[in-house]
Amino acid sequence: MTKVGRLRCTAQQILLLLAVLLLWTLVSITRNESQAPSVNLVIASTLAQDYSWTSNIRIPNLRIIPFVADNPNSTYHPPLNKGREAMIYLTYIYQFYGSLPDISIFVHADDESWHVDSIFGRSTAYTLNHLDLNEVLQRQYLNLHVDWKHACPAWINTSSTSNENESKFEQPFMAAAFTANFPNETVPEILAQPCCSQFAVTREAILSVPREQYQHQINWLLRSAFSDELTGRMWEHMWQFLFLKEVVVCPLEYKALCAGWHICFGSQEEMNGWKKLAKDREDLHPTLGRIDPPHGKIEAMDMELRAWKERAMKRGRSKAERARIVGDLWGEHE
Ligand SMILES: *[C@@H]1O[C@H](CO)[C@@H](O)[C@H](O)[C@H]1NC(C)=O
Ligand SMILES: *[C@@H]1O[C@H](CO)[C@@H](O)[C@H](O)[C@H]1NC(C)=O
Ligand SMILES: *[C@@H]1O[C@H](CO)[C@@H](O)[C@H](O)[C@H]1NC(C)=O
Ligand SMILES: *[C@@H]1O[C@H](CO)[C@@H](O)[C@H](O)[C@H]1NC(C)=O
Ligand SMILES: *[C@@H]1O[C@H](CO)[C@@H](O)[C@H](O)[C@H]1NC(C)=O
Repeated sequence: MTKVGRLRCTAQQILLLLAVLLLWTLVSITRNESQAPSVNLVIASTLAQDYSWTSNIRIPNLRIIPFVADNPNSTYHPPLNKGREAMIYLTYIYQFYGSLPDISIFVHADDESWHVDSIFGRSTAYTLNHLDLNEVLQRQYLNLHVDWKHACPAWINTSSTSNENESKFEQPFMAAAFTANFPNETVPEILAQPCCSQFAVTREAILSVPREQYQHQINWLLRSAFSDELTGRMWEHMWQFLFLKEVVVCPLEYKALCAGWHICFGSQEEMNGWKKLAKDREDLHPTLGRIDPPHGKIEAMDMELRAWKERAMKRGRSKAERARIVGDLWGEHE
């Protein structure tokens, strides 16, 4: 064989090898996609909001379902612009009841928000891109917020008529709201879960409630004389009951974070330390996630926060470490 012939032969072999590699990658991606759970991302939006950030979510088998509260011409919209995100979530469930994906994720239309944990950079996109969907499948209902602030562990006392604490001004009306929405259930003394009504739920959990009950709850929102602010806040304390029949769903923050997002601090004390530093950082410069203009002290804090979080993420990559840290998710406090 001539030298040129040998070279051509090698080039052909390389091409063949590349083709095989490409095919193998395509096959494994397709296989992965079909194995991954199907997910609907339900967005509670208004005309003024921009949810284009959702196109960067890296969840496979994802379908985006934007509900626009104040646009009856939108493909997806609630029967009335009333009851905030609660109306939208319940409307989606009612409409999609017969064709639900494995997991439905419910979020607000803004990416960056104070409703999102500081450990996620206050970004819902980050929260979703790092979420372990297997954990959702196991738990059936998973709150996208881990922070206990103004929400856990014994937040709403339905027997209390006190509205002195303005961070729970809905408390005196919670017994009435609960009875109206769950007429066949005894009112629990305490209702609590992390705040803000953003969560993931399995098909199974949604189907555990008859479709008519969702209609009943939509009707309550349609007719309620309470303000939208109140009904929205009331539902923040009722989703866990709707899907799990549990009244208090407050896993310790560091455990919820490790199990759901594989960011694993060694203890709640360590996580509190990180959160304290993050808060000091935010207080210095409250613009979400941005440094403008660059500032030496802030940069130093950012570097420390990042390095500390990276150590927690490194720990979270090990399944054995996660199991050790999470242990019994519900064990330590109930
Ligand atoms: C397929 O999924 C496995 C495990 O989830 C992952 O490690 C691997 O990188 C994925 N492969 C492709 C081609 O996406
Ligand atoms: C909805 O469509 C109607 C009829 O085309 C139009 O008059 C109205 O302005 C539209 N509303 C919005 C919010 O786009
Ligand atoms: C709830 O509030 C009532 C009335 O103020 C009080 O008697 C009761 O002890 C409280 N329950 C709990 C669990 O704190
Ligand atoms: C409101 O409740 C929170 C949590 O229990 C507490 O930290 C705060 O001091 C209370 N505020 C008032 C005004 O009672
Ligand atoms: C309450 O129970 C009654 C009688 O079993 C039933 O007809 C009704 O649908 C239930 N209501 C709700 C909201 O579950």
